[in-house]
Amino acid sequence: MTGKNYVVARIPGDGIGPEVIGETSRILEAAGRKHGFSLTWADYPFGADHYLKTGEILPASAVEEMGSMDALLLGAVGDPRVKPGILERGILLTIRFHFDQYVNLRPAKSYPRVPLPVAPKGGKDLDTLVVRENTEDFYIGIGSRTEKGSADFSLDTKRGLYSLEGTLRGSFSGGVEGAFQLGVASEPAVRRVVAYGCRAAKARGEDKITLASKSNALPQIYGFWEDIAQDEAARHGMGLGIVNVDAMCYHLVRTPDLYGVVVAPNMFGDIVSDLLAGLAGGLGVAAGADIGDGLSMFEPIHGSAPDIAGTGKANPIAAILTGALLLEHIGERTAAKAVEDSLTAFLAESAPGDLPVEFGGQGTTRAVGEAILKRIQ
Ligand code: NAD
Ligand code: IPM
Ligand code: MN
Repeated sequence: MTGKNYVVARIPGDGIGPEVIGETSRILEAAGRKHGFSLTWADYPFGADHYLKTGEILPASAVEEMGSMDALLLGAVGDPRVKPGILERGILLTIRFHFDQYVNLRPAKSYPRVPLPVAPKGGKDLDTLVVRENTEDFYIGIGSRTEKGSADFSLDTKRGLYSLEGTLRGSFSGGVEGAFQLGVASEPAVRRVVAYGCRAAKARGEDKITLASKSNALPQIYGFWEDIAQDEAARHGMGLGIVNVDAMCYHLVRTPDLYGVVVAPNMFGDIVSDLLAGLAGGLGVAAGADIGDGLSMFEPIHGSAPDIAGTGKANPIAAILTGALLLEHIGERTAAKAVEDSLTAFLAESAPGDLPVEFGGQGTTRAVGEAILKRIQ
């Protein structure tokens, strides 16, 4: 092998994570062989089994190591045996925050013969890009439950762009128990993700972006978002549509191809991207990437799907398309296109029975992966 070698960190994770990452890895390796590069995997065992066995979630030394690698490929984390949040915050969100991966890119694209629940109005294809802010909002990790009706909690947070300091104290009368979770937005974080959305829209030949907002109910945080987004879009010579996220969901289920690039604060982006994934055919085809200026992470939108783990029903296409995004990111554009082309050819040409179970066929995770791998040119 004379071509370039890339070191890619790999966290298969839980449930269907290892199943879909297994297929993706073999396909990326095959694409490398055809297109003159190689991949060295740096494997990490983090996830539920490792945590239950050792008590370790994600050691700082591993995060440090990953920082010098070319990319990170992750399947999914989360397991019914572990309290929600421990692995999700402890692994996934820790990585997003540590590397300041400020854009969560989530294309909602339809592929040949992938059944869509609602027909797009403008034709048979769906091609929307969700650009989700990935470092702030209600995800910033500041909050507390009360004890005896009171909470006294720190705001101290270190992010790539700034550090935040302070404390908050709140008490409910009569010892009423409750909880606080703060949403945070800052000008530089809103600007950079809106700028990213504007550049992405321009590259698609579009002259506007749409912001998922909700300033009618939450005027401080989302009114601020709207003002900054308006200004940033204008700087890029782009139009900005502002749509309340509830109405956006309503419009989407009736007209799934209504928007081009949707920019969204973290939590709305999480929700809208699952909705768009469903409209584009299912979570099994929905790729994703967490992009920052340092290490970027590539992970499908879907979770560990414990309901189908171990059955062979997991559709590996989302992870394989995520792998194509990884190849594009490291600069292997031809190979990335080869992966997407072979996947498209598989969907277009294969017998109905060979399609993934998600689309009504009997194609197992392994069989679908194998069929796509064979077509890599
Ligand atoms: P999920 O995305 O795992 O599953 C939702 C539904 O979609 C399930 O019915 C599942 O079977 C189906 N599905 C998902 N991926 C599929 C695929 N590739 N092929 C076919 N069907 C697929 O969401 P959930 O059920 O809310 O979460 C399960 C666990 O995953 C939880 O622990 C959650 O916290 C975690 N989670 C992790 C991530 C991540 O690691 N990025 C993302 C979302 C959820
Ligand atoms: C996702 C997931 C995560 C999120 C969870 C598991 C923390 O739903 O990647 O979309 O909310 O970002
Ligand atoms: Mn999600």
